[in-house]
Amino acid sequence: MKLTLRVWRQKNADAPGAMSTYEVDGISQDMSFLEMLDTLNEELILAGDDPVAFDHDCREGICGACSLVINGDAHGPERTTTCQLHMRSFEDGDTIDIEPWRASAFPVVKDLVVDRSAFDRIIQAGGYISAPTGTAPEAHATPVPKPDADFAFEHAECIGCGACVAACPNGSAMLFTSAKINHLNVLPQGAPERETRVLDMVGQMDSEGFGGCTLTGECATACPKGIPLPSISAMNKEWLRATRKVHR
Ligand code: FES
Repeated sequence: MKLTLRVWRQKNADAPGAMSTYEVDGISQDMSFLEMLDTLNEELILAGDDPVAFDHDCREGICGACSLVINGDAHGPERTTTCQLHMRSFEDGDTIDIEPWRASAFPVVKDLVVDRSAFDRIIQAGGYISAPTGTAPEAHATPVPKPDADFAFEHAECIGCGACVAACPNGSAMLFTSAKINHLNVLPQGAPERETRVLDMVGQMDSEGFGGCTLTGECATACPKGIPLPSISAMNKEWLRATRKVHR
């Protein structure tokens, strides 16, 4: 395949950015999107040019590091992570626009790399359980009803990639935050911090400059792990419950 790539290039957070156009040839349909970018970068390096900076780690769809807006869609045309997107989703001769996540809470570091440490700070605010250290407890010592276990697993699938924020017209992080709160709040292990978790994590989310949710639903559509939109209403219920309990 021969492709025209229009790639966002930006030296650093303070420098102005612009789209640069590159031609790549000999791209196999079996390549992943990131392998296609590797090919571009090999050519840029051989020509003595600065390679395109982009985030990646596992390349297996589990770490959440990869983060590209491709032709206007977070992670591109398939409902998957950028690293699991393959070139068979494109046609020979296509022009592909590649941009970083666009959100004021995710400032550009360089080219296609953005700073997602706001997510880390939301997790640090309450995305954990307090457990005494020691040997691992017997797995069946704490019974969990099957619907609660399924609910927890569904929300624990969030890999924190930030596609929800990039897809949302408000730059809202409510789908991410709700997934992280819900998967712990529904379990007995998460009960001791149930109220402080939701209040602290939502407070941190608000202080990071993410927008509010207007139930557009783009976040759930873009999420590569299928975190459902009602996750946000479940978080709102948790927040109201915690607020009432703290004020009582
Ligand atoms: S590189 Fe890890 S999910 Fe894409």
